[in-house]
Amino acid sequence: MVNIAPSMLAADPLNIGRDIQKMVSAGAKIIHIDIMDAHLVPNLSYGPAMVKAIRKGFPSCILDVHLMMDNPAKYVNAFITSGADELTIHAEIEEDIPSIFKEIHSLGAKAGISIKPGTNVSEIEKYIEYVELILIMSVEPGFGGQKMMPDCLLKLSELRDMGYNGTLSVDGGINAENAKLAVQHGANRLVMGTALFNSQDPAKIIADLSAL
Ligand code: DX5
Ligand code: ZN
Repeated sequence: MVNIAPSMLAADPLNIGRDIQKMVSAGAKIIHIDIMDAHLVPNLSYGPAMVKAIRKGFPSCILDVHLMMDNPAKYVNAFITSGADELTIHAEIEEDIPSIFKEIHSLGAKAGISIKPGTNVSEIEKYIEYVELILIMSVEPGFGGQKMMPDCLLKLSELRDMGYNGTLSVDGGINAENAKLAVQHGANRLVMGTALFNSQDPAKIIADLSAL
């Protein structure tokens, strides 16, 4: 079973609730929320208030919050109390990562680790035992609508070969055409922004890809 996580970064900013509802009506159960700080990545997005609003509007969805930010420790509590079910931090930050996982778990959420295209899987091998989710970036993080970098998919197989059997998610440029390749490499969650939100038939994409 493959899970599809629509990335609400691709929603119309004036109609975020409407566009998320379209994805939920199309069968999505997980909402991917990108938090960007203009330091770790070259863009800015939302804060805990957005997570809180989505939690309120979509109480039964899993909120998969992708923290593309330096110093995430400062905000772990705010995001989880706002309703995040899963918090993914980046391996490229200069903080005590295991202690952040500990805090995430102590607040009852799942912890994830993500790597940018230039970071090797060997950098996160030491975290495998602490996380429920690994997120492989298949574009340089910061913007939706980019082209998937196929070499990044090899990292999925590497992680499966290392024995990682938790949620393995891939994020960036995933569409109905390249999703199968990602799943063949070991992904069991596909984050999709542009390809889903721009589609006339997101229900078909979600149904087809869930069955891969
Ligand atoms: C990129 C974000 C992604 C993005 C994916 O920095 O982490 O979640 O929204 O969008 P698409 O699917 O358009 O590449
Ligand atoms: Zn993301």
